Order: sequence, then C-alpha cells, then structure tokens
Amino acid sequence: MEPLSLNVLREKYLSFFESKGHLRLESFPLVPQNDNSLLLINAGMAPLKPYFKGERVPPRKRVTTCQKCVRTLDIDNVGKTSRHGTFFEMLGNFSFGDYFKEEAIPWAWEFLTKVLEIPESRLYPSVYVEDDEALEIWVKTGVPRERITKLGKDDNFWEIGSGPCGPCSEIYFDRGEQYGCGKPDCAPGCDCDRYVEFWNLVFSQFNGDGEGHYEKMEHPNIDTGMGLERLACIMQGVDNLFEVDTVQNILKHVARIADVEYHKDAKTDVSLRVITDHIRSTTFMVSDGILPQNEGRGYVLRRLLRRAARHGRLLGINEPFLYKVCETVIGENANAYPELVEHKDYIVK
Ligand code: ALA
Repeated sequence: MEPLSLNVLREKYLSFFESKGHLRLESFPLVPQNDNSLLLINAGMAPLKPYFKGERVPPRKRVTTCQKCVRTLDIDNVGKTSRHGTFFEMLGNFSFGDYFKEEAIPWAWEFLTKVLEIPESRLYPSVYVEDDEALEIWVKTGVPRERITKLGKDDNFWEIGSGPCGPCSEIYFDRGEQYGCGKPDCAPGCDCDRYVEFWNLVFSQFNGDGEGHYEKMEHPNIDTGMGLERLACIMQGVDNLFEVDTVQNILKHVARIADVEYHKDAKTDVSLRVITDHIRSTTFMVSDGILPQNEGRGYVLRRLLRRAARHGRLLGINEPFLYKVCETVIGENANAYPELVEHKDYIVK
C-alpha cells in the first residue's frame, strides 16, 4: 500500500463508488437544513435523513459523498491527546432502498484491498452479535471466520440522536502488536491502540426517536461512514490526525508564526494541536455562514475561536494570526471545497 495524500484518498473513494453506479454529491453545508435535532452536521448521513425516511425523493438511489463534519463532544480533550479533533471529513456510500448488505460488504472489501491495496491480513471486520447474515457475507467475501468479531449493541448498533439507525459492521485496521496492550484477549473492540476502527457500514433499517423507540423503515438502507483523516493515518503510516499531510501543513504554519517546533515541548504541542484543529472547524463554519454569537452554533464558533486565540497567546503570539492560518486551511482544501476559495476574502475578514 502506498502513502497516499488525503486529497488523493478522497478522490479514489468517490470515483470508486461512482464506478458502482453512485451519484457523487458535493458536501452539504455544516448548517443543518430543516433539522432542529442538530446544531451542526456530524455525520455523512445527517443531511440525507429525508431520503432515508422516504420524505423526499433522492436524485439517485445510490449516492456517495465526502461530508464536512463537526463534533464538539470531546472539545476539552482536543490538543491534550493527539487523537481528538472537532473537524473531520466523512466518506460515505449510501443506498436509499436500493442495494443492501450483499453489495455493501464486498464493495468495502474491494475498495480497501484492491484499490488501496491494504493487506487483507491487517483488516478485521466486526458484526452485530445477532447479525449472522452480515457474518456469512463477510465469510463469502473471503474473510476467514475467525477474524470476524461479534460485538454487542454498544459497539455495533449505530445511532446518533434521532433518525435512521440500525445494526452495523465496522472495519478495523491492525496497527501491529507494538501498539497493543498485550492482553491475551486483545482483539477488535479492545480499548488499546492496536485495532483502529475506521469504517462503519450501517444497515440502516429503523427510524429512532432518540429515546429508545424504533420504527422499522419502509425499506432497508445502507449508510456507511469512513473517517477520511483516519484512513489517511493508516495509509500514511502515521500515528494521528496531526501528522496527516494536509493537517500537518496547517500545524506547520502555526508553528512558523509562533516560531516554535512541534515535538519539542509537550505544552507547546497541546497549543499547536488546539489551534490546528480549531482553525479547521472555524474556517469551514464561517464559510458556511455561521457567525460568532452567544448561543447555538454561533456560540460553538465563538468558543472555538476564543480557545484558538488563547492558545496563540500561550505560544507567545501577541497579534491577530488566525486569519493568516485560515489561508492554509483554504489552500489545503481548495479542490474538494471550492466554496472556501469563493468565500476566502469574507472568511479572512
Ligand atoms: N452514520 C455512520 C457513522 O457516522 C456511518 O458512523
């Protein structure tokens, strides 16, 4: 497998699913449209809910996207660890009552092992404990039965707030024994760093109300989500988000302005990571029309900007600088998100 750039990986994914009859759609804005259950789009499927639920007719029954997402649940951990971030891109292929498990599973395998040439021996699927159908499809696709882990509802039933949800099958990458906890039962689902989950295939069959009530949807759907940055970590053989090519370029820009080096001092590294993550989120949020405010998504933006600015101070930067760094964010993402280029002057201002 080759160390491909994040921008190349995105394109490979979208064109692979186009070759399987999917319509490629642009990322939807971060601001949810007609959906009060969410402040910000937090998954590839979120803007597609009306198609899953049959409330609107999709432009095609097979769609593929790379969706910009913001999740701020872990905001306090951002920077402290090298893993957490608030902004990420989610690759997804979706079926609105068209294909189901029989196609979704072998296509995922084909993309990973044939297109990206990830060695089969490093990939481990998991299935929902009661989903023997998915298990048999994995076996038929060529995965040895003993490499498939059955996990319970906590791991393998996907839902976020209200909306379409269902049992899922996740794909893990084995980073190698050196990352493991060494326990004899260490396997996908273990808390240690050895097996990273990076692609979730959701067999979306229910509409949940977010309070534990589920209604079967008219037809079963497919909703998959793969973290593009996580995939890039695997392909580039790096440990974490901040080492991925495009993200690293943003971090380096911050380090240049602060005149510091990454990996020299733990405290400095925290600040560099906070700024790098938050400037990614805020550049995209401003581009999508969000303004700093005292409530709602405007407050999320304000909080992110303030945290980034404060960490700039901690690095000894005593003048406005985020407006400079956002130009690097725009440059690194210009191809996939032309709206950033279009709104550049506005965002910088
Ligand atoms: N909707 C699923 C997720 O976000 C694929 O993980």
